Amino acid sequence: MYAQGLIGADGKTEETDAFLAAFQARIDAEEKIEPNDPMPEGYRRTLVRQIGQHAHSEIVGMLPEGNWVTRAPSLRRKVALLAKVQDEGGHGLYLYAAAETLGVSREEMTEQLLDGRAKYSSIFNYPTQTWADIGAIGWLVDGAAIMNQIPLCRCSYGPYARAMIRVCKEESFHQRQGYEIMMTLAQGTEDQREMAQDALNRWWWPSLMMFGPSDKDSVNSDQSMKWKIKRFTNDELRQKFIDATVPQAEKIGLTVPDPDLTWNEAKGGYDHGPIDWSEFKRVLKGEGPMNRDRIRARQKAWDDGAWVREAARAHAAKRQPAALAAE
Ligand SMILES: [Fe+2]
Ligand SMILES: [Fe+2]
Repeated sequence: MYAQGLIGADGKTEETDAFLAAFQARIDAEEKIEPNDPMPEGYRRTLVRQIGQHAHSEIVGMLPEGNWVTRAPSLRRKVALLAKVQDEGGHGLYLYAAAETLGVSREEMTEQLLDGRAKYSSIFNYPTQTWADIGAIGWLVDGAAIMNQIPLCRCSYGPYARAMIRVCKEESFHQRQGYEIMMTLAQGTEDQREMAQDALNRWWWPSLMMFGPSDKDSVNSDQSMKWKIKRFTNDELRQKFIDATVPQAEKIGLTVPDPDLTWNEAKGGYDHGPIDWSEFKRVLKGEGPMNRDRIRARQKAWDDGAWVREAARAHAAKRQPAALAAE
């Protein structure tokens, strides 16, 4: 039993051993935690950080691909890309709404993104140089996102888990449209094949970095696994992604840019070469090729939207006396 009526998220609940044990018992019993349930402040904060970061990634992720909407090579490609970029915007909105159930406002989250306190996935700090990059992003970046997000459908926090179910369905369409672009290019002219290979060369390693630092260097992993926010470690997910993706590259005649990649019969998976974590850290710190542009674009959108927020506030203020009078 846990203390009914105590709202952990208000910061006033005393986190006694009994409270923490009762909370852990609910998690262990695979019960979903809902917004008004008592929860440890650390659990709430971890989720706010993770869901906020996830929401920002969806929104910032619209930028590199949006860059190609006007230059898609056919009407069919343009329609598919437009739909995909819109989906990502929708994912961002679900996720901001899920984070808001934990007592943080969308304004606060946006301010944290703009002043650098909140992060988004570093993968979006790389530029999209050719049309093949749109294929590589769908195939690899959305493919990696699916590996991360399928276990999140079983996350212990109800609103996040439910949002992920729909998001994952859409991500699998993104992955397929990306792979189909790569397949078409790989079967095209020599120049097109080279373009596809070049995109794979540039996006492969950053995609592996999307799973985060190696388990031995991952600071938040253990507690998140215990709380069933995470179900697999970073390295486990990265391994699943590599094992699923390497045969897909082979099938379309492209080469994964890792000379150390070898099939390991004993573990039933691939061994891969070393990941350049210094690059990961550099990009995370803001030194990637596109960090400044991405934040500048989000800042502009926020500034351009000031009149909408102002109008919404004025409208709400006008309605308030009428609503009170009607009571
Ligand atoms: Fe998405
Ligand atoms: Fe996606």
